[in-house]
Amino acid sequence: MEMNLSEITSIRDGNPQCKTCGGVGITLAEHVRGSRSGALVLCHCIGSDCNTCEAKGQAPFMTFDRKLDKMLPCVCHNARFSLRNLENLVEKANIPARYRFQFLSTIDIGDTANDPDMSFIIAHDWANELVHKFKNSDFTPQGFYLWGGTGSGKTLLACVILNELVFRYGITCKYAKVNKDFLSAIRDTYQSDSETHGQERSIEKEFANVDVLVIDDFGVQKESEFNNRKLYDLIDSRYEQEKLTLLTSNHSLVEWRDRGQGRIYSRLMEMTKEIELKCPDYRTKFVKR
Ligand SMILES: Nc1ncnc2c1ncn2[C@@H]1O[C@H](COP(=O)(O)OP(=O)(O)OP(=O)(O)O)[C@@H](O)[C@H]1O
Ligand SMILES: [Mg+2]
Ligand SMILES: [Zn+2]
Ligand SMILES: [Zn+2]
Repeated sequence: MEMNLSEITSIRDGNPQCKTCGGVGITLAEHVRGSRSGALVLCHCIGSDCNTCEAKGQAPFMTFDRKLDKMLPCVCHNARFSLRNLENLVEKANIPARYRFQFLSTIDIGDTANDPDMSFIIAHDWANELVHKFKNSDFTPQGFYLWGGTGSGKTLLACVILNELVFRYGITCKYAKVNKDFLSAIRDTYQSDSETHGQERSIEKEFANVDVLVIDDFGVQKESEFNNRKLYDLIDSRYEQEKLTLLTSNHSLVEWRDRGQGRIYSRLMEMTKEIELKCPDYRTKFVKR
């Protein structure tokens, strides 16, 4: 199966008449061996014309034109560059394999019978509006603070938004688990044998400056002066630069105020819309009884 990406990207490097890719030139091949999320591939509408390409998949994808006696871009040129650019953005975004190449249209809309307030549908709608209006001049994108029980789809929804934004607008996004990807990465820079030794500032800058940041599992980190300060600095810097930040947590926002983190709380109140997911644990759906 190949997924047509023409609805979620404005890339048009393929044959406009091609039914498979809708003119994109790139499709998402699903059920790829050794990958649960699939892989981006050139569409057959380009691949079949590209047998003249001397580079055979190596940049700069030029081919020698005998009549004109010079090198010209191969028919695959633009599509291969777009493909590579998308792959780079996806790679940089650090999205775990399980949630890579998942989009608003590919996930379940929610278990309405067991989700009394239709919380997943509301969050899904909200995400839909965000990704569609993201670049509109009369729209101010607001982040979200998504919280709820385990398996309710928080990480999935946050990653879906990153995927949509990467494909729609080609912007830089980053997924980070609060401990493993952020706090530990900073702590590692203090180790003299670490390959990131001494790079604390540049790592912090990267998190502060990326267009869209997901902070996953916010609240599992230990309370310590160091952790609180690093998280405060990150959130404050994104707040000041008005950058979009998406957080997921098992705790409600107000708990931060009650834990004495009033300055984080007040910034997050302004930067994000708080949504509680009340749907049941999706993981248990697949457990065989
Ligand atoms: N609406 C949905 N459609 C398809 N898959 C879903 C949906 N909701 C959850 N899942 C799947 O269920 C699993 C759990 O979802 P997810 O990891 O997003 O939960 P979570 O809320 O982040 O849980 P935790 O608090 O334990 O981190 C994942 O494999 C995810 O892909
Ligand atoms: Mg999660
Ligand atoms: Zn095609
Ligand atoms: Zn070629």
